[in-house]
This record gives sequence, C-alpha cells and structure tokens, in this order.
Amino acid sequence: MSNEDNEMLTMALSKGRIFEETMPLLEAAGISVNESPESSRKLILPTSDPRLRLLIVRASDVPTYVQYGAADFGIAGRDVLYEYMQEQPGGLYQPTDLNIAKCRLAVAVREGFDYEEAVKKGARLRVATKYVNVAREHFAKKGVYVDIIKLYGSMELAPLVGLADAIVDVVSTGGTLRANNLVPVEDVMPVSSRLIVNQAALKTRATRLMPILEAFEKAAI
Ligand code: ADP
Ligand code: PRP
Ligand code: MG
Repeated sequence: MSNEDNEMLTMALSKGRIFEETMPLLEAAGISVNESPESSRKLILPTSDPRLRLLIVRASDVPTYVQYGAADFGIAGRDVLYEYMQEQPGGLYQPTDLNIAKCRLAVAVREGFDYEEAVKKGARLRVATKYVNVAREHFAKKGVYVDIIKLYGSMELAPLVGLADAIVDVVSTGGTLRANNLVPVEDVMPVSSRLIVNQAALKTRATRLMPILEAFEKAAI
C-alpha cells in the first residue's frame, strides 16, 4: 500500500436534499453514514470508511471548499456552480451529472403582470434573485434592461411587496410560486447536482478518488 492509499479523503456536502439524495450514491460505493446532519451539530461527519469524511457546508459554499482543496470533492447544484464560476473560474473538475436535486431556474412574476408586454415595450425590469450572475446573463442575452436586486432567500416575497417586478429562482413542483400568487414566465436553465473535484487532488490522489468517483458515476441514474 502506498502512502496515498492511507490518506483521508474529504467530501463537501450541504445538508437537506443534497445530503439525503447523496446517501444512496454513497451506499452504492459501499459507504454508510451513521450520523445525520439534521440531528447532529457536528460539521465533520465520519463515514463507515475510516478514510472518508464529510464536511457539512452551505450549498453555495461547496464550490469554495473544493476549489481551495479544503475538500477533495463535493456535490453542488448547477445553479450554484454556474453562479460561482462567473466569479471564480477554474480549479474545479466536473466529471458527472448525478441527476439528483432536479429542478429548474425560472423567471417568475406576479399573476396579472404582463411580462411579455413589458419586454416588448423595452421596460426596465427590477429583478430580485440570489443568482445575480445567471440573471444578468439571461436578460442581457434577451436584450432586456434589468436592475438586479440581490437577495439571500424567500425571493418569492419580492414581487408581492413591490421590491421587484420579477424573480429568478429555483422551481420544482411550482408549489411555492402558486402559494404566493406568482407564475413562471420563462425558463432560465435546467438544474441538477453534479460531482465537483479539486483538480490538484485528481492528480495527486487519483488512486483514492477514482474508485469513489466511478461508483458514483455508475449509481447515478
Ligand atoms: P439552500 O436553499 O440552503 O441553498 P437547498 O438544499 O435548498 O439549499 O438547495 C441545494 C440545491 O438543491 C440548490 O442549489 C438546487 O440545485 C437544488 N434545489 C433547491 N431547491 C430545490 C427543489 N425545490 N427541488 C429540487 N432541487 C432543489
Ligand atoms: C426551494 C426554492 C423554492 C422552492 C421551489 O426552497 O428556494 O422556494 O424550493 O420548489 P417548489 O417549486 O417545489 O415549491 P426550499 O424548499 O429549499 O426552502 P429554502 O427557502 O429553505 O431554501
Ligand atoms: Mg433551499
């Protein structure tokens, strides 16, 4: 056994849906996790493989941990990755779409707001979102003038209280939009979660990383 074979591998994950949907993939790689981030306050979780540990971080921080090598690999939504890459490109290898946490990014407005008409008239739109780079690029491509308002959550509220004309947010069942009298008017991009790997780790820890990455790839639907 070489030194590399004994080295600890570190995987960054967010709690909630990505953690839940990753567990079956880990199990397919023969790895189980005994503690749940929902009940434990621990941010570093051991696994049944003494050479693999999990870091529990915010979904939007996963690319940062992996890019800087604090984690060797991780799982992040395409929405988060796209937004992150606009500001910190490079250093991340994205080998596999895992097809988990599927949703889409969409533009939504208040019921009754005529989005098509506003676009046709060349109106300047106020758009609230946490995906400022994705939104800016989307509207620039369409030639629509926008003022972007950065929010950190509960985007659906913004059009209801006059903070914005439209939002760009994650939509899955559409239930949250409906519950707040909003309607989707345009798709921005389909979203699912992907494996991301630190490029240096891929070279220096290939022997340790490859079997896990391959098991994930095989288990992904
Ligand atoms: P947070 O809201 O704290 O950023 P989530 O666990 O809700 O973290 O979201 C993590 C990722 O899961 C998102 O970046 C997105 O790719 C995906 N996602 C978010 N909301 C949904 C949803 N309602 N259905 C499916 N996937 C979702
Ligand atoms: C996410 C997202 C939307 C909602 C969309 O919220 O921010 O609000 O899902 O899903 P739907 O179309 O099925 O309603 P989440 O459940 O992650 O709650 P959060 O506000 O804690 O992120
Ligand atoms: Mg969420």
